[in-house]
Amino acid sequence: MESLLSQYNLKGHEIKNRVVMPPMEFLVRETRNGLVNDGHLLHYGARAKGGVGLIIVEATSIHPNSRSIDSQLGAWSDEHIPGLTRLAAECHAYGAKVLLQLQHLGVKMKADSNHDVYGPSAYDENDVQARAMTLEELHELQDAYVQAVLRAYQAGFDGVEFHGAHGYLLNQFSSPIVNQRQDLYGGSLDNRLRFIREIISRVQTAVSESFILGYRMGCNEPTLEQGIEIAVKLEAMGVDLLHVSSSGYSAERPEIPDDFMYNWTVYGGSQIKQNVNVPVIVVYEIKTPERANDIVEQGLADFTAIGRDLIVDPEWVHKAMKQEEIRYCIRCQPCVIFSGMKCVML
Ligand SMILES: Cc1cc2nc3c(=O)[nH]c(=O)nc-3n(C[C@H](O)[C@H](O)[C@H](O)COP(=O)(O)O)c2cc1C
Repeated sequence: MESLLSQYNLKGHEIKNRVVMPPMEFLVRETRNGLVNDGHLLHYGARAKGGVGLIIVEATSIHPNSRSIDSQLGAWSDEHIPGLTRLAAECHAYGAKVLLQLQHLGVKMKADSNHDVYGPSAYDENDVQARAMTLEELHELQDAYVQAVLRAYQAGFDGVEFHGAHGYLLNQFSSPIVNQRQDLYGGSLDNRLRFIREIISRVQTAVSESFILGYRMGCNEPTLEQGIEIAVKLEAMGVDLLHVSSSGYSAERPEIPDDFMYNWTVYGGSQIKQNVNVPVIVVYEIKTPERANDIVEQGLADFTAIGRDLIVDPEWVHKAMKQEEIRYCIRCQPCVIFSGMKCVML
C-alpha cells in the first residue's frame, strides 16, 4: 500500500516521499531585482535537509512589471540564472526534487506610473482598473513565460509549476468570470486555455523529456465540474503534475459528502484525481503526518502539501518518520495576510 513515506517516480525523478512544500512567498525579504540571496538558500535548504520530497519554490515573477513586492523572486532576466542555480543545487544537495513556481499578476498588478495594468480583459480589482491586453502584449507575455521556463531549466530545476490558481494571470485566462475576450483566447474553455496550451507546446520542444511541467489550479473553476474539465484538458496538453488549490474568482465550494474527513479543497483534489492519470497534490490544513498519510493511503491524492506547518517546523518530515513531536503553526495569520493569501485562506 502507498503511504506518506513511499517513493514516487515522476518522469524518472525519484521523489523520496509524498510530502510537498507548497510555494510560499515573502518569507525571505531583503532581496532586490528578483535575485536569490543567502536567506533563500537557508530557508529552502532547511526544509530540504528536513526531508521534504518535493519543494515548489515560491511564486516567481516572469516579468519585471508584475511584482507584488520589491523582494519577490524573479525569472524575467538571465541575471537571475546564477542565483536560481544555487537554489536548485541547495535543494538537490539534501535529496529533494525542486520546481520553480512561475507567476504573472495580470489584473492584480500594482498601479505604477511606469506601466499599464492589464489582464485578459478589462477588470476592476482592488480599485485598480485593468485594461484588456492587446494581442501583441499577450504574445509578449507568452514569450516571457517560455523564457522563464527555460531559465529554470538552465538553472537545474527539475521542472516548473505554472501558477494557475488564486486569481493570477493564468487563472484570469481560465476564468469565465474575468476572461471576456472575443478573440481566440476567450469564449469557450478551449479558447480560455489556449494561452497556457501554446506556452506548454513551445516549452515541450525546448526541454528534456524528464523536465516536469506542473500546474497549480483551483478545483472550483468556477464549479468542481468545470475544475475537473480543466484538469482533464491540462493533462491532455502535457501537464505532468496537478496541484489542486482554490480559484481566485469563484465563491462556489464543492459540497463535501458527510463521510469525507477533510476540507473542500482536498475534496476537490480527490475528485480531480479520479479523473486524471497524472499525479495530484492536495493542500490546505492537512497539518499532521497522520492526516497526510491517511490521504495517501486512501488514494485521495498522490502527494500532500504541508505549508504553514513546514514554515514553523522545517524538520516536519524527519519528525514524522521518527514519530517525534512536531511544532505546529498556531495560525496567527500575519504571514497569510502579508502574502496576500487572505482572500483564499481565511
Ligand atoms: C506566507 C504564505 C505565502 C504563500 N505564497 C504562495 C505562493 O507564492 N504561491 C502559491 O501558489 N501559494 C502560496 N501560498 C499558499 C500555500 O501554497 C498553501 O496553499 C497554503 O499555505 C495552504 O496550505 P497549509 O494549510 O498547509 O498552510 C502562500 C501561503 C502562505 C501562508
